[in-house]
Order: sequence, then structure tokens, then C-alpha cells
Amino acid sequence: MAENSLSAASITSDLNTRLIGQRVVYHPVMTSTMEVARQEAQNDAEEGTVIIADEQTAGRGRLKRVWLSPGGNIALSVILRPSIAHLPYLIMAAALAVAHSIEAITGLKPQLKWPNDVLVKGKKVCGILIESQVQTNTVDYAIIGIGINVNLRLDDFPEILPIATSLSHELGKEVSRVTLIRSLLVEIERLYLALQAGVSVYEEWRDSLITLGKQVRVASGETTQEGIAESVARDGSLLLRHPDGSLTRILSGDVTLRD
Ligand code: BTN
Repeated sequence: MAENSLSAASITSDLNTRLIGQRVVYHPVMTSTMEVARQEAQNDAEEGTVIIADEQTAGRGRLKRVWLSPGGNIALSVILRPSIAHLPYLIMAAALAVAHSIEAITGLKPQLKWPNDVLVKGKKVCGILIESQVQTNTVDYAIIGIGINVNLRLDDFPEILPIATSLSHELGKEVSRVTLIRSLLVEIERLYLALQAGVSVYEEWRDSLITLGKQVRVASGETTQEGIAESVARDGSLLLRHPDGSLTRILSGDVTLRD
């Protein structure tokens, strides 16, 4: 596999995109690529700017969780300036882009789990976080944060072994982060431009979710609900059918599959 050290030039050089990754800010260590991306976006960074770190000292996940970010993985954030109508679709486009690029580069067959996890063989290999700054009807910026367990040695992190995996663990060999990042950026751009051209990503995202049709437990905030994950709405929310026949729309939460 190709060498595995990152640099801005190794990503941007002859990258087959118009927008995404034409400018890359890379530092070996950052607090969080989300934090640096937010500062860049507020300082008018051009759309498509990508922030990449080898390691994050304060990587963050959904619901204010810590995101483990040791070296050898991918931690990046992409700055976009979408219309407000396209904002709910960014998570769908990002999850599909991650799944497509992992499959293209490794041959593994990723699955999507609502709301924003990418799994390999039933275990989490990637988490996605979207943060945005919105005025009444306009989006100042949106940031897609993507963390992929690429060359993570799971023996070093036994606490995540039951729920997480890495690409190298599944393949039995290291994966080139440069190759995977380049493929990912091309795929994010393809889906983002498709969205802007009026092509829907919703159907492919919905049909890729392993969550649907399953008996699930959904924890959101202080509440836990159980039922069948019947479908997802176009705004990305989960439609949960309760044993009494009622239907709840859930905007965010953690899903545990019950069967
Ligand atoms: C989750 O599953 O909770 C989402 C995890 C998102 C992690 C990525 S790593 C790159 C970017 N920087 C961060 O601090 N978080 C996101």
C-alpha cells in the first residue's frame, strides 16, 4: 500500500475536483478539525476548504461526546456553503460518500446506521458530525466532520473493541490514508454537486440504512423508546412505530438494534 504520511500537497496534487479539497489546511496535531474549520469559515475560507489532522487532542463526536483521534486514522472537516434547503441532505451525502469510497479503496462493504454511522461487519468504522451556522433563511457555513478508523490498532483500545473496528483490522493490512481521503473528497463533491443540480440522495441513503425494519431501542436525551424503525423522513428524522401502533418522529439519538 502507498506510504501513509499526510500533507496538504499529497491531497491537493492533481485532485479531480473543482471545489472540495482544492485548498487543504493540514497540521499533524489539532484540537479538533471542527474547531479549526469553524475559525476558517468565519474568516471567509472558500467553500470546499478541507481541514485535516493526524491527531486531535479534543476530537468531538455527536451529543458532546469525545471522539478518539489517535494517529493513523482520518480526521477531517469540509467547509461548505449550501442553501438552507440542502442542509438536511449533507449528512446523507457524507455517509454515502464515506461508504462508496471505503468500498472503492478496500473492497469492504460498509453499511449505514441511522443517524450517521458507517459500519463494517456490524461495527462502527466512521462517525460523521455536521455543524452549521444558520441565519433565518440562509446558511453562513456548514462543516462536515468525518472520522474514520483506518489504521487503528484495536488491541491498544480494548474499551471500544465490542462496538468499533478499523479498516486495517478488517483487512489485515494497512490502508493508504492519502488514497482514501482523495477518493472521499471526489465522492463528496460528486454528491454535493448532484444535490445542487436537484438530484436526491435521500432514496439511496434510506435504502442503505441497516436500521430500517428492525426492532430498535432509541436513546435521545433522558428518554429511551422502543419499537420498529419503520422509515426515515426526508429531513433525516427516524420514524419509530411503537407497539401500540403510534408513530414517533425522532430527530436525533442513539439506536441499538434489538434483533
Ligand atoms: C460521532 O459519531 O459521534 C461523530 C464523530 C465525528 C468525528 C470527526 S473526526 C473529524 C472531526 N473533528 C472532530 O472533532 N470531530 C469530527
